[in-house]
Amino acid sequence: MLIVGNTKAYLSSLKDAELLAKNWRALAKKTKHTLVLALPTPLLSLADNPPLRAAAQDVSPLTSGAHTGEVLAQVLREDGATYVIIGHSERRDKETHEDIREKITRVLEERLTPVLCVGEKERDEEGEYTAHLREQIISALKGRTIKETASMVIAYEPVWAVGGPHALTPALLHETVIFIRKVVQDIVPEAARKIKILYGGSVDEENVHALATEGEVQGFLLGRVSVRGDDMKMLVTKLNEVPR
Ligand code: 13P
Repeated sequence: MLIVGNTKAYLSSLKDAELLAKNWRALAKKTKHTLVLALPTPLLSLADNPPLRAAAQDVSPLTSGAHTGEVLAQVLREDGATYVIIGHSERRDKETHEDIREKITRVLEERLTPVLCVGEKERDEEGEYTAHLREQIISALKGRTIKETASMVIAYEPVWAVGGPHALTPALLHETVIFIRKVVQDIVPEAARKIKILYGGSVDEENVHALATEGEVQGFLLGRVSVRGDDMKMLVTKLNEVPR
């Protein structure tokens, strides 16, 4: 499985980031799963220490030029990133579908792996949220090659579950993963079986085992638990009981 820790802006010092990267690396050495840590951009190279891998939390949609404050995919790659989180719900309100598409393109151009976040704001009874999910996926993937699409990761993060008290149930996760794969199948059929789908939103050491075994996902995008040492250790122990 692919386990990505999104440390958001939880870390406020270099010392804390160094310690966290050290702990994650120790966990990565003791598991068959792939562990990836997304530190703040200026510190991301701390996580580029195999078997631990580094992710960036965002990327510029632009190419080089007069764009103050933008960080290019090329810079992230040279700094050690292997993965780049794109379209996280905590950023999506400021981004258009076109921005997200461009970000994915920039990341693929640098041969990095995009972790595209998708997810509904609410789960209505009528199932309208599926149209929203479909639109997010189609706008990001349309026109991509089989190889590009197959190399990508989709992180399904229902917005209401991010930072909330409850994760999605394993049964509903299973159902949604089937739906997401079906949408990918509709646009790039040959990549549908290969694309990795992760779940994120209130995952912790208590619920991870059921989500992993019943949810049909290939990994997780973790938030709060990623910076809690003992809980993170327990979470990896639980995942070690789950086959690859
Ligand atoms: P929480 O695990 O804190 O709900 O956050 C999930 C998330 O947003 C990961 O990107």
